[in-house]
Parts: sequence; structure tokens; C-alpha cells
Amino acid sequence: IAARLWHGYPRSLLKMGPLESAKKIAAHKAVNEYVQNNTVIGIGSGSTVVYAVHRLAERVKEEGLNVVCISTSFQARQLILDNHLTLGDLETYPKLDCAIDGADEVDAEMNLIKGGGGCLLQEKIVASCAQQFLVIADYTKNSQKLGEQYKKGIPIEVVPMAYVPIQHRIEKTYGGTAKIRMAVAKAGPVVTDNGNFILDWHFPQDLTNWNKINEEISLIPGVVETGLFINMAEKAFFGMPDGSVKEQ
Ligand code: 5RP
Repeated sequence: IAARLWHGYPRSLLKMGPLESAKKIAAHKAVNEYVQNNTVIGIGSGSTVVYAVHRLAERVKEEGLNVVCISTSFQARQLILDNHLTLGDLETYPKLDCAIDGADEVDAEMNLIKGGGGCLLQEKIVASCAQQFLVIADYTKNSQKLGEQYKKGIPIEVVPMAYVPIQHRIEKTYGGTAKIRMAVAKAGPVVTDNGNFILDWHFPQDLTNWNKINEEISLIPGVVETGLFINMAEKAFFGMPDGSVKEQ
């Protein structure tokens, strides 16, 4: 039995506490300052992006803004449609003006871990087509060093038949453990929007050369994509507990 991801977002997570309000202010700042008229915008996945889409929909209604949205997941597609925004695709719009997405962790050098929601492949494709890739997040995602804040490891999307050899190869080469992501109640492996499995690699804390590691892991046969986003993000907006937004 497989479970798909992000088919709607749990209502409980959308109740406004300090964390939710931090996500909202970061998302609003990015949409207010970076989205312009007659542009094509990549819409990321996760809970923070929900606030960005709501703000985008407000601006379309209030200012008559003309934007085409490109989705990064089933969730993002539903979000775009539910908010009556114009949905496009990469076939028609291969070049995006900007992409707005959340992150699981952002380090001091703007290396990101993404894919907590399992949407890393389409997120990376869409971000790579955008002139500007903007990250929106709450203050808990901001760290000096990957792994300092986010404890769930680096997601790696893999072709199902290859998951065991890939686990072995990563653990032998770099150490740590690469665990297959299981659905709720261990009902079976989580299956991505692309029909693949996800390994969450709990890496040793002394690793630092993420560019090289990302390139090497990407070359292992059966690896579809990694949740390491290196040299991709132009700017990150972190909503802070005091209501301000820190820009990096
Ligand atoms: C999904 C992602 C999300 O952007 C990431 O998990 C952050 O999510 P949230 O905004 O809910 O904290 O990479 O694959």
C-alpha cells in the first residue's frame, strides 16, 4: 500500500500560532516585494506556500495582477486551482520569473534541505527554471549548518527497485543511515507524485562539502534527485517570533 503526499493540508497545522504567523509574514513579504505584473511564478509545496498563494490571490483580485502559476506538486496544483489562479506548465512556460517555495532548513551559505513533504523533484525542476528562487520559512528553519535544526535527514528520491543498493552505497560512502520513508502506521513506503520512493539520509554532522556530496549522490544509478538545493536560492525570508522578517 502506498501513500501519496500533500493531498490537502491538515487543518490543525493552519491554526495561527507563532510559527504559523512567522510563515505568513515571510510569505507575504516575498509575494508583495517580488511578484510583478505579467509574470510566471513557480509555486512550491508545503504549509508556508499556502500563505504565499493566498496573498497572491488577494493581489490578483485587488490589483488585477496577471500571473501564471507553475505547480511543483499535486498539492500546489490544487492550491492554485482552489484559489482561482491561472495554472500553467513548463511545456508552455519553460522560463519562470520567480519561484517561491518553503524549505526544511537553510544554512548560512544558503544551502537548503528540501523535500520534507516529498516534493523535491518537481520543486527542484521548477526552481531551476526560475530567474529568481525565493525561499519563505519560519525562524526554526534558519541555521548555521545543515542538520543543526532539521533532524529528519536529507530526502533523496529514488527509483523503487534500487532503494536498497542506494541505501548501502550512501551509508558506506558517507556514513549515517538512509531510511526508507514509510507512510503513516507503516502502511508501506511513501510514494512521490512521480511514483518513486524517498530515502531520508541521517548524515554525520561533520560533513560540509555539500556541493560535491550532492553531485556524487546524484550520479548513483537509481537516484532521481536529492533534497539538497545548492547555489539555487537567491534570497530567503524568515518570519521571526517578534513579527519581523529576516532576509538572507
Ligand atoms: C516539500 C518541501 C517543503 O517546502 C518543506 O518541507 C517546507 O515545508 P513547510 O513550509 O510546511 O515547513 O520541501 O517537499
